[in-house]
Amino acid sequence: MRPTIYVADIAKHEGQEVVLHGWLHNRRSSGKLHFLQVRDGTGFIQCVVFKGNVTPEVFHEADHVPQETSLTVTGTVKKDPRSPIGYELDVKELAVQARPSREFPLGHKEHGVAFLMEQRHLWLRSQRQQVILRVRHTVERAIRDFFDGNGFTLVDAPIFTPSACEGTSTLFEVPYFDLGKAYLTQSGQLYMEAAAMALGKAYCFGPTFRAEKSKTRRHLTEFWMVEPEVAWNDSDANMRLQEEFVSYIVARCLARRKPELVELERDTKPLERVQLPFPRISYSAAVEKLQSLGSDMVWGRDLGGDEETLLAQQFDRPVLVHDYPKQVKAFDMKENPADPRTVLNNDMLAPEGYGEIIGGSQREDDYDKLLSRIRAEGLPEDAYGWYLDLRKYGTFVHAGFGLGVERTVSWICGIPHVREAIAFPRTLYKLWP
Ligand code: 4AD
Ligand code: MG
Repeated sequence: MRPTIYVADIAKHEGQEVVLHGWLHNRRSSGKLHFLQVRDGTGFIQCVVFKGNVTPEVFHEADHVPQETSLTVTGTVKKDPRSPIGYELDVKELAVQARPSREFPLGHKEHGVAFLMEQRHLWLRSQRQQVILRVRHTVERAIRDFFDGNGFTLVDAPIFTPSACEGTSTLFEVPYFDLGKAYLTQSGQLYMEAAAMALGKAYCFGPTFRAEKSKTRRHLTEFWMVEPEVAWNDSDANMRLQEEFVSYIVARCLARRKPELVELERDTKPLERVQLPFPRISYSAAVEKLQSLGSDMVWGRDLGGDEETLLAQQFDRPVLVHDYPKQVKAFDMKENPADPRTVLNNDMLAPEGYGEIIGGSQREDDYDKLLSRIRAEGLPEDAYGWYLDLRKYGTFVHAGFGLGVERTVSWICGIPHVREAIAFPRTLYKLWP
């Protein structure tokens, strides 16, 4: 019996006759030999069709199959030192499963990103996109392993919510039967606070939505976020958890995705420097630093993308910026007792201009203060009744954060735009495919 195998397992089958399913990536010919580059999702392999080894029909077919034809190839696995994977396939039989009905629109030439994004469902087949998706997979796996290995319980937060978490300006409304309007979740945080009161350490991991009108390379309208929440952690402990977490993710990618990072031409030296401890700087000190660097930043304003980049350039690893002004941050952050103009929060800024990858804080645990923040921001009080309950029944010091998957993947891969860090991106102008 000839085993059906994947390219990734080819080394186990040296000398054996095997069957492979895949798609034709490219081909070339030199008279008596046709070389087919076949891709099977786990790798690329060169399949050599020698005139003397196959029927005339197969030999003719091998010189005419178009790109992206789905194929089944049968042949003998041969060691070949010139091959990037060390092996090639000596073809005996070739069965075309389905020939494309027209020319593949993404042939082997340069295309503009706008066109490629329209063809995203096909573009995913390119080596670069495959590699990015694999790094993303490893980032997501590392996220789960980190929390699962540290005593956290995964709690899935709802997508339909009655209220905002990160400001009312970026809510997507959905009609919701007789109950009026629901909103797509911006963050599972409020629910994780309830979960942390039940389980101590909880996290959610799923898609979140922001009706962001921004067209920057860092914004999607739908993105994936992981959000841990920890009972009894204060802001300091929250920042320690973040640096352990992010250095764990980066180390995992370096350990398991070196070939992919090489394929992306990612300089891995800056990633190798992502070691504990990460530098910390208060917002107020950051404003002074930015001013000394020539920025027109003033105290009280949120850091914009340019300021984040300039600030992060001063450090060789991710930097934790803490204690922002209350007025630029969400209502649920704990007032800083040492300076009530500020809150006990932090952002983590990635190096190399990738900007904010984490936002987190210690939460306001005082019932009256929280209620007055809700009122001051003009939020609908009744929608937060359940959230206020958490401060009525055994309120507690607690903190948590959210890490955006696409920004993290972009940074680790060294790709300029978050839209390539997710299979099917959603932005202001993009709902297709
Ligand atoms: O800073 P944010 O808005 O924080 C929260 O939502 C908190 N409630 C999280 C928490 O404490 N549980 O978002 C967290 C992270 C950002 O640092 C960024 O990485 C990512 O989510 N993010 C986005 N990623 C892509 N597109 C967008 N529009 C994003 N908005 C936020
Ligand atoms: Mg933020």
